[in-house]
Amino acid sequence: MERRDLVRIDLTGKTALVTGSTQGIGAAIATGLGRAGARVAVNGRSRESVDAALERLRGEVADAEFVAAPGDIATDAGTRQVLDAVPDVDVLVNNLGIFGARPALEIDDDEWRRYFEVNVLTAVRMTRGYLPRMREGGWGRVLNIASDSAFVVPAEMIHYGMSKTALLAVSRGFAKEAAGSGVTVNSVIAGPTHTGGVEDFVYELVDRDLSWERAQREFMRLHRPQSLIQRLIEPEEIANMVVYLASPLASATTGGAIRVDGGYVDSIVP
Ligand SMILES: NC(=O)c1ccc[n+]([C@@H]2O[C@H](COP(=O)([O-])OP(=O)(O)OC[C@H]3O[C@@H](n4cnc5c(N)ncnc54)[C@H](OP(=O)(O)O)[C@@H]3O)[C@@H](O)[C@H]2O)c1
Repeated sequence: MERRDLVRIDLTGKTALVTGSTQGIGAAIATGLGRAGARVAVNGRSRESVDAALERLRGEVADAEFVAAPGDIATDAGTRQVLDAVPDVDVLVNNLGIFGARPALEIDDDEWRRYFEVNVLTAVRMTRGYLPRMREGGWGRVLNIASDSAFVVPAEMIHYGMSKTALLAVSRGFAKEAAGSGVTVNSVIAGPTHTGGVEDFVYELVDRDLSWERAQREFMRLHRPQSLIQRLIEPEEIANMVVYLASPLASATTGGAIRVDGGYVDSIVP
C-alpha cells in the first residue's frame, strides 16, 4: 500500500443520497461527498428549493455530479418520488430533521407523532428502501444524523430529544440487520452547529453590537458552557466525519454513534 493511499478518501463511482440537503448541514454533507468524487442526489420538499441548491452546489464543486431528488419524504408519495428518482444508492445519509422549542406539557399527541414521523420514520423508510440492494451488492453506508439532544435531552425540546435517541436505536438495529454484508450503519451525533437562523438566535441572547466571533463566544460561555470548543460547530466539520464514515476507510466502524459535538456531551462514551 502506498503511503498516500492510507488517508485518501475517494468516493468515485459511488452514488449518495442526502435527505434534507437544500441547506444547512445536509448541504455541507452533499458538498463534502461531491468533493470526494461521489454522484450526489439532493433532496428537499420542492423542485424549486432543490434546483436552487443544485445551482449553489455546482458553483461550489464544479467537477462534481449533483442530481435532483425532490420529494417530501415525510409522506408516502414523496418517498416514492425520491426512490423513483434515485433507485439505487451506495451511501444514504438520513440528515432530515426538524426541531423547535415547546414546553413539555404543551406538546400534544399530534406534535409527538410529527417528530417521530419526520425525524425517525423517514430514516427507517429510506433505510428499508435502500438497504436490501446495498446488501445484495456487498457494500453500502447508512448514516443517520443524530444530535447531542439524544443524550442531553433539552427540557424545552423533549420531543426532539426523544426522536434523536430513537434514531440511535434505529441505527444500532439496522447495523445488526446488515451484519456481515459489507454494509455499515452508524449515527453521527452533531452538536450545536452554525446553520442558517442560528446567528439571529445567538443575537437574541447576547449584545447585538458584538462581532459574530465575540457574539458566539459569549453565547457559548453563557448558554452552552458544556462545549469544550466554546464555539459553534461549522457544518463542514460534521460533513468531514460523514464523508469519512461513508468511505471505504471506515469499513470496521458500524453500529456506532460517533460524536462531532465539540465535546458538548459530558461523557467518554460513545
Ligand atoms: N443545526 C444544529 O445545530 C443541529 C445540531 C444537532 C443536530 N442537528 C441535526 O442535523 C440535521 C440537519 O439540521 P439543519 O439545522 O442543517 O437543518 P435545516 O437547516 O433546518 O435544513 C432542513 C433541510 O431539510 C429539508 N426538509 C425539511 N422537511 C423535509 C421533508 N419533509 N422532506 C424532505 N426534505 C425536508 C429542508 O429543505 P426544503 O426546505 O427545501 O424542503 C432543508 O434542506 C437534522 O437532523 C438536525 O436534527 C442539527
